[in-house]
Amino acid sequence: MELSIEKIINNKFKNIFDKLGINSQFAAVKISDRPDLSDFQCNGALALSKELKKNPREIASSIAAELEKDNDIEKVSVDGPGFINISLKNEFITSVIDKISQDERFGIEKKASKTVVLDFGGPNVAKAMHVGHLRSGVIGEAVQRIETFAGNKVVSDVHFGDWGTPIGMIIAEIINEKCDAFSLNVEEITELYKKANIRCKEDEKAKETARIITAKMQDGDPEYRKIWKYIRDVSIEDVKKNYENLDVNFNLWWGESDAHDASSEIVKIAKEKGISEIDGGANIIRLDEGNKPKPPVILEKSDGGFTYHTTDIATILLRVRDLKADEIIYFTDKRQEFHFEQVFEAAEKLGIAPGVKLKHIGFGTVNGSDGKPFKTRDGGVMTLESLIELSKEKVRESMPKANAEYNQEYIDNLIDEIAIGAIKFQDLKNNIASGYIFEVDDFAKFEGKTGPYIQYAVARINSILRKAKDADIDFGGVIITNNEERELALKILQLNNVVNRADEEFEPSIISDYAYTLAQTFSSFYSTSPILNENNEKVMSSRLRLAKLVRDILVLLLYLLGIKSPEVMLKA
Ligand code: ARG
Repeated sequence: MELSIEKIINNKFKNIFDKLGINSQFAAVKISDRPDLSDFQCNGALALSKELKKNPREIASSIAAELEKDNDIEKVSVDGPGFINISLKNEFITSVIDKISQDERFGIEKKASKTVVLDFGGPNVAKAMHVGHLRSGVIGEAVQRIETFAGNKVVSDVHFGDWGTPIGMIIAEIINEKCDAFSLNVEEITELYKKANIRCKEDEKAKETARIITAKMQDGDPEYRKIWKYIRDVSIEDVKKNYENLDVNFNLWWGESDAHDASSEIVKIAKEKGISEIDGGANIIRLDEGNKPKPPVILEKSDGGFTYHTTDIATILLRVRDLKADEIIYFTDKRQEFHFEQVFEAAEKLGIAPGVKLKHIGFGTVNGSDGKPFKTRDGGVMTLESLIELSKEKVRESMPKANAEYNQEYIDNLIDEIAIGAIKFQDLKNNIASGYIFEVDDFAKFEGKTGPYIQYAVARINSILRKAKDADIDFGGVIITNNEERELALKILQLNNVVNRADEEFEPSIISDYAYTLAQTFSSFYSTSPILNENNEKVMSSRLRLAKLVRDILVLLLYLLGIKSPEVMLKA
């Protein structure tokens, strides 16, 4: 049986349109803008009136007359210039709800079966991860879960930045400072990189030295490679720890370095295809200028070194050839939009990804309340670690002390789950393209549009379910006895559409919005419709069934956002 309510209603309209011999392209139905008047509406008659040269109200009325015959529909009306409004019978709503509550996917269809490579994260050797990396990881992880749930085979790759000039700069600095490369820890490596950065900005010669070392390292110089490997390993270990704390997971830990050999291949293919040329000593691919000037892609610099572009192009080759990608989706800061435009165009000219969808999804920046990039209290760069610490501090303030029932370990774990949930939800409640202001005072609160609010809603239902179990109360079929139950049921029926849209549009905020309104709708329901104190047994078990369904759905939605659902939430 079809479990998507929108589809069911759309089909009803389509069948009527077909029966009446009118263009069913206009049969689309949407959730009513006026839930006080109707559940769904169709505005097709207005568009049809032009095509049929007929009064739209007249067309609407003939459609409405057919809808009247449908047993699932309670009320039909033609309003205004020709809008068709319908309300569903309660028995119809509850019959779908009952099916959904027995389905392990709550009626959400599996739509896809593509191989989707997701490129997110993109941290770099020797650079502490900062809030910029946060978005890529948090969004990427959510999309990874949504795409997997939709039925795709997802391969996530961190695309570690381990091959560029920073390596040469650090090695030069190690030589300068005469330090033992193989005993450096990640903080020391980061410090060296900072120093090197300043030096190279001020001193052309230092920059040149770093460039030469990088080229030699890439070329396979054994000494430099040894240091490179050590620095890379130490950095990766640190980065992994950060992602683990955030519950962001990758299938692959390929780095830019892994595309080195493929980069030579790209140079060869470009030459064979005659699309590259030498320009001022560099090997370049010119792009179609169209209506805006587009600088060429530099494949090889005059010193023979590959560029950020080359690595990305070569990585496409690997992902298509070795991973059999049908789609490759990148999540980075919006400022890299043009970079990807160039990369995709070059890939197309090279013919290395025929039929493969290449898409860059750029996100906006995280700002502080002053509208400038988010900083620590003392004005420093906000590293990911300090952000997580800040969030934990906030949550700890509202947690009770350890006691006989909940020991310290339990509470610490709870703080972790809430703090990470708060950070992630605050990010994912905004649509990807827009930046957002980090709401330091509000993001970790238990009320408002926050992660903890939704986790709290789940925990509250958990507690109802525990009590019901102790009192031996069973779940029953759903019946609708008041308006709040009806609204909650209709809200639940939107789930299918929400998850599908989030998948199609790569937009987790569609899920976070819905999770928030579902939790709110449950809350209004619960304040007017007692569960455990209800006298009528049938009503009680129906409400218990609804409560469990909402809990299970919220847990799924939080999971899709990469957020944990603690069994209980504690408050000081
Ligand atoms: N390492 C890069 C940076 O920090 C991001 C990498 C994004 N992914 C890619 N395939 N280029 O800017």
